[in-house]
Parts: sequence; C-alpha cells; structure tokens
Amino acid sequence: MTHYRLDAGRQTIVLAAPANGLPHCTYWGARLPDGTDLGAIAAAAEIDLTGGMLDANPLVTLCPQTASAFPGQPGLDVRSKDGTPLRPVFAQTATKRAEALALSYADAALGLTLTFKFSADAETGIITAQTALDATQPVLCDWLSAPTLPGPQLADEMIDFAGRWCDEFQPVRTPWAAGIRARDNRTGRTGHEHFPALIMPARGCTNTGGEAHALHYGWSGGHRMIAEELPDGRRQIQFGHASGSDPLPGTHFESAPLYVAYSDTGLNGCAVSFQRHLRDRIITWPQPNTPRPVHYNCWEAIYFDHSLSALTAIADRAVALGAERFVLDDGWFKARNDDTTSLGDWTIDAAKWPDGLTPLIDHVHSLGMTFGLWFEPEMVNADSDMARNHPDWILGPMDQPLGRGQYVLDMANADLRENLFDQISSILASHDIEYIKWDHNRVLPRNDAAQTRGTYALLDRLRTAHPEVEIESCASGGGRIDFGILKHTQRVWLSDSNDALTRLRIQHDAALFLPSCVTGSHVGPRHCHTTGRVHSISFRAWVAAQRHMGFEMDPRELTQEEAATLTRVTAWYKANRDWMRSADILRLESADPAIIAEQQQAADGTRFVVFAGHAGTSTQIAPRPLRLTGLDADATYTIDIANKDDLSTLSRGTPSLKSGPLTLTGRTLMSQGIALPYAVPDSIWIIEGHRL
Ligand code: DGJ
Repeated sequence: MTHYRLDAGRQTIVLAAPANGLPHCTYWGARLPDGTDLGAIAAAAEIDLTGGMLDANPLVTLCPQTASAFPGQPGLDVRSKDGTPLRPVFAQTATKRAEALALSYADAALGLTLTFKFSADAETGIITAQTALDATQPVLCDWLSAPTLPGPQLADEMIDFAGRWCDEFQPVRTPWAAGIRARDNRTGRTGHEHFPALIMPARGCTNTGGEAHALHYGWSGGHRMIAEELPDGRRQIQFGHASGSDPLPGTHFESAPLYVAYSDTGLNGCAVSFQRHLRDRIITWPQPNTPRPVHYNCWEAIYFDHSLSALTAIADRAVALGAERFVLDDGWFKARNDDTTSLGDWTIDAAKWPDGLTPLIDHVHSLGMTFGLWFEPEMVNADSDMARNHPDWILGPMDQPLGRGQYVLDMANADLRENLFDQISSILASHDIEYIKWDHNRVLPRNDAAQTRGTYALLDRLRTAHPEVEIESCASGGGRIDFGILKHTQRVWLSDSNDALTRLRIQHDAALFLPSCVTGSHVGPRHCHTTGRVHSISFRAWVAAQRHMGFEMDPRELTQEEAATLTRVTAWYKANRDWMRSADILRLESADPAIIAEQQQAADGTRFVVFAGHAGTSTQIAPRPLRLTGLDADATYTIDIANKDDLSTLSRGTPSLKSGPLTLTGRTLMSQGIALPYAVPDSIWIIEGHRL
C-alpha cells in the first residue's frame, strides 16, 4: 500500500493506493502534523464485519466500481459503443508527483485508463480534484465522477443550494439518512436552481465555529451530485456532469475540477478558502491593479428605449454620483426594440444609433468613464438574419418551447463560433470598449457538455484577441455562476433583483463561495421593478456597497437629498474598495434572526467593516448584541458607526456606539458583542473597525 498526503492550509487529505485496485481516501479533515504515520490512519479507519455483510468491505475508492461488489452508486458508468455495459477492473499504471499528484489506472483488456489528479494550494486552503477517462476505442460514458470522497460521519445534515430568478443561492438543509440525496440538473447550464456545491457541517457548526467539509463543482453545464449513506453507514460524495451530458461515443472524458475545502472555524473557514481561491487563483484579471470601477448600467432606466440624448443625460448624472464605467445594456443592435427579435445580429441599430455608438462612447469617455456593452452570444431569435440564414445553427428542433422567445445556438459548431467571434470581435475592435456583459437568458433544450465547452472556447478566443476586456457572466441574473465560467470571466451578475432586502440575503449566502470583488451589486430604482417594494436610498446604496458597486436606476429620478446620500456612500465605497477587494467576508452569527450581518476583514487584520442589515422585524424590542469574529482576542480595536445619519428618531436611548468611537478588545467584541442602536426594518448599520 502506498500513501499520499495532500496538505492545503488547514486541511489534509490522505489517499491509500493498494498494489491492485483503485486508491481510496482514508482521511479528510484537519491538517495532520508532518511525519504522521499515514499507514496507521488507514488501519484505524478500517470498519468491522458482522452478519449480513460481505466477507470484506468494498472500499469507497476514488471511483467505486460495480465489479468490486460495491454496495452503492458507482463512480463510473461506461459502455462499449454498441451499448454493452463494461465492468473494468483497474490496476495501477503510472504515478506522477510534481506540483500535482496524478494517479493512473488501466484495464488493459478493455482499453480504459482512469486518471485522478489532485493539487493542493497552501495559501487558499483548497484542494482541487479531477478524474479523466481515456479509451483506446470510442466508448459511451454515462457517468464519470470527480474523485469520490467520504462524507463526514459527525454531520447530521448537508447543505446544498436551490434558488430561482430573483432569489438565488437559497441554502437547503437535508438530514443525512440511508440512501441517496441526488441533484441532477439537466437544464444545460449552472442554473438559478442548482448552484453546484455541498457543505457538510459537523454537529454544532455555525458560521463562526465548528467543523465543516465543503465541495464546489466548477462547471457551467449542469451537475449531478450524489450524497449517499451506504447500508453500512459509510458515506460517499460524488460530483460530475449532469446525466446525459456526453451522449456520444468518445475516447476522452473528464470531470470538471472539484474544489475541496475544510474548516475548523465554522462555515466561514470554507467560505474564505473558496473566496480567496476564486479571487486569487481562478480569475484572471485584465487589469489586476485597477480598482473595481463603480458601474452605471442603463437596463432598468430605459430598457429598449435607447436614444443618444437620454443616455448622455443619464451619463452626466451617473458620473456626478460617482460612476466610472457606463454599461449599455440590451437594445443597441439591429431592430432590437423588445425581446422578441434580433439576437444573433450583432450590428448596431441604425434607427436608434444613426451615427453608431461612437458619439455615446465619446461622451462617456469625455466624462472620464469607461464603456461596456451587453451581448447574449449563445442565443438567437427566429426573427433574425442569423436564424434565417443558418437554421442549422439552432440547438434542438424548431418546434421546441422557446425561452424568452429565443432559441439556443449550437455552440459545439465551429462555424457558428467563428461567426460569433467575427461579429463580436469587430465591434470590440472598432470601438473603445473595455467591458462585456455576457448574458444567457434561457435553459437549453437539451443537456450537452459540448455546449459548455463551445462557450468556454469562444470566451477564450475573444479574451485572447481582446485581453483588456473584462467580462461579466449574467444569466437572467445568477443563472450561470460557478468557478468554471469564472475561469473565463471576472464578474457575476448575482441576481436580477435590485431589491436591497432580497439582495442582502442573496449576497450573504453567495458569500459562502464568492468574494466581494466579483459580485456585482447595483442600486436599483426607488420602486423596485422586480418586487414593487420601496426602500430608502441609504439602504439600497449600502447594500450595493457591500460588493462590486453600481447603479441601475434612472438617476434623473433621484431627489437632491437621495443623490447626496448616494454620492456619499459611493465615495465611501471608493475610499474602501482597495482593501475590501482582498478582504475576507465572514458571516456573523446573529442572535437575532432578523439581522443578516457580515464582517469584511482586511487581509492584514488591521481593519474591518461590519454590515448589519435588518431584514425583518425583530421579535424582541431591544437590539440583541452582535458578536464579531476573526479578531485578535488580545488586540484593541476602535469601532464606530459610519452611517450615523441613518439613526432613527425611534432610537431614544444612549448606547455608546451612538455617540462615537468605542475602544474594546477583540475578546470583548467576539464574546460579548456590540449593542447596536435601535433600527427599523429594511435598514443597515455600517460599523468600521481599526486595530490600534
Ligand atoms: C437579463 C439580465 O439579467 C438583465 O440584467 C438584462 O441585461 C436583461 N437580460 C437584458 O435583456
């Protein structure tokens, strides 16, 4: 038996590889001391036998095999080209240990080779794991799991994610029980409903304390997850592409990377690993040293009703509020007067823009802003030259149900990709554009991994040709957010809901994976277009300032007072965005369920800011103290409220934070917490902290 250990930050994974057969994970948990006897760990993990069991326990290998009488779901389902099930028996062929560990196993008779790859990142604490299958003859691969890992035994429940348009990232807690909890997303994209992740909190784990294991599958084409408790009580977790993703025979199949995190500091430990890994390892920034610019996006201001005069007037107002990047949304291209036509025809609409986009771009530049443009490249309307000339580029039959009146294009088709590249590239080459909002507004007619690969390829080609352009992944808001798409893009449009109350909750739960600098958040109209609710400008502005800030209302609707507040909060964002870019978002454990709170903590620990949002009416009358986290217990900090002007007239008492900075130790802030002034629902306190 050979043992391998992978150490990443606070976690260790140990693999045991027998001379015959596939390796299995004998340990996944807190970092092991150097020199730990790995053989002893494997031996200690061995489970007993009794009546009703086989005479040996089939191992939960990195790819459990039906051929070994494994009592659960196999990690691989493969058939010969004619459909005959194959039952490979793998034996080790090669091991490579450089920066990454690669373990290969073959069934020579069947011509199949399975390779497991692992890499460990010491700084972010993430272990990345991937499985590949190679075949000498084309085979049908119905299921290939990323390396199968054991589920922790002390977890009573698991958390995965549901959601919907305008309410993404809803955590779902399911008790562990005998059998399977399966997710199988056949919509062909990540989806609002299926963020591909699983968190397994140990009993008693909270945001700020306890143990958790977590996984994220970095793929934009829909995933399948199996969390299974075997008849003997062992647990296994498998993640792969959704069923039916690779319907054709092939000689190479691979899972997407599975990102593995472990924490002994509550859910926050896993969240921080994911946030850092995404920000510092996965995303490639066109201009890494440029501050995150404040956006102005015109969608909810004017929709399809584009005119140079209105947009220049809006740009004038937006820049005065503090906007730095002006994004022209849907409606700028040929005859696109509503959402029923023209997708696929990426030429400027001469009716709305008789002199092209240049006059608007020049105006935006003269104000000192950069310019961004909306595209939805993977889609086509029947009423478009593209569909008329190339009906063969449409994915699925013509009589399929449409989504938002549109078809999906067959992104596996190289000619189509060439055409899209030429159209988009020529707009980028002939205009000074430094940002694309890349939208995707319907699910696919069928699930197909080739679609996702085609989209990644087009994104890569455009990025190579236009390396200065930043790209945002939008899919009716947060319908395509995952580490796969973020290898090719740099920002996500988290949700179409610009309702600050909804957004506060979505941002909070998305922070389990997403850092602030990639998460777009805009100040919406006074009357929210998706919920009809009305929120104060202060609440809207501060919730947007928690993430990558922008505005998405008609600034001409703002009163002078509202404009002054928004300008002030935007200035605060600009003064703080540089350190917040590399900050960790730590979710706070609030004693009052009406409070959704987080602490953004500077990388060097010298400062932090707490956003404590009132997302409902508290059951008790007086605010419960809010405990902070992640501070140096023995250090001293000053804390103060940054938005004292939001103090309600209903606050009649004298909590000391009302009147000025407090100086307290980290220990007090973390154990006793801070007493906040009384606040009304749909408001937020901003508390800044500095280490002395
Ligand atoms: C859906 C997006 O989520 C919106 O922000 C907007 O860009 C529209 N599409 C445009 O059609």
